[in-house]
Amino acid sequence: MADDSPDEAFAEFKSRPLGIWGVAQLAAGTGLAVYAMWVGILQPGFRKVPLRLQVPYIPASKSQVRNVMTLLKGRKGGLVDLGSGDGRIVLEAHQQGFTPAIGYELNPWLVYMSRFYAWRAGHNEKVSYRREDLWKVDLSECKNITVFLAPSVLSLLQKKLQDELPDDALVVAGRFPFPDWTPCRTEGHGVDRAWAYNIQAQRQHILRNNDKEKSQE
Ligand SMILES: C[S@@+](CC[C@H](N)C(=O)[O-])C[C@H]1O[C@@H](n2cnc3c(N)ncnc32)[C@H](O)[C@@H]1O
Repeated sequence: MADDSPDEAFAEFKSRPLGIWGVAQLAAGTGLAVYAMWVGILQPGFRKVPLRLQVPYIPASKSQVRNVMTLLKGRKGGLVDLGSGDGRIVLEAHQQGFTPAIGYELNPWLVYMSRFYAWRAGHNEKVSYRREDLWKVDLSECKNITVFLAPSVLSLLQKKLQDELPDDALVVAGRFPFPDWTPCRTEGHGVDRAWAYNIQAQRQHILRNNDKEKSQE
């Protein structure tokens, strides 16, 4: 074996069956690589966020972005995307006239990527990507909000949005609807669907329900 040429050694390696030990090593190596990618690339920034509030990065599809923007037609002012990923919704919103267009994203790699895409599109000075925890952002001045987050997170986010947003705010959710809210409009089908919610209508709905409960006591 010591005298084998590299080609011969490789041919011998290829023809030898892996065996249980080889399969175990391969599985452990793959697992380690996936874990390293998860910790190093997908998860940085989430260490202080409770596990149940961590949402993985899945970019909105082109149809989803189109549906979200359709629901925002006719709206003016600024726009905030909570959990902005690679920044595609923010960039599109800016291109459709929303100013300022801001994305809040915890993962630093995604923030760098968003800035790169904005720079490549020639809009890097017009959009803003901030590495911040969406739960800590003050939303009291936001009129147009977009979200694409997991259903478990949306049920908690409802309360923050209800407490902080101005009455004339519009919230647009992509892929998953808010569990307790009634949309004023929807757009698209299946995984690309988007839902629009008028905040004043949600507040009135909650007040009516509270009054009903009180009258039944
Ligand atoms: C499903 S992706 C959506 C990305 C983007 N909005 C889009 O539509 O393409 C959700 C994003 O929210 C980010 N995220 C999750 N929790 C967050 C938090 N607490 N603060 C800021 N960003 C968060 C994730 O890193 C991920 O990029």
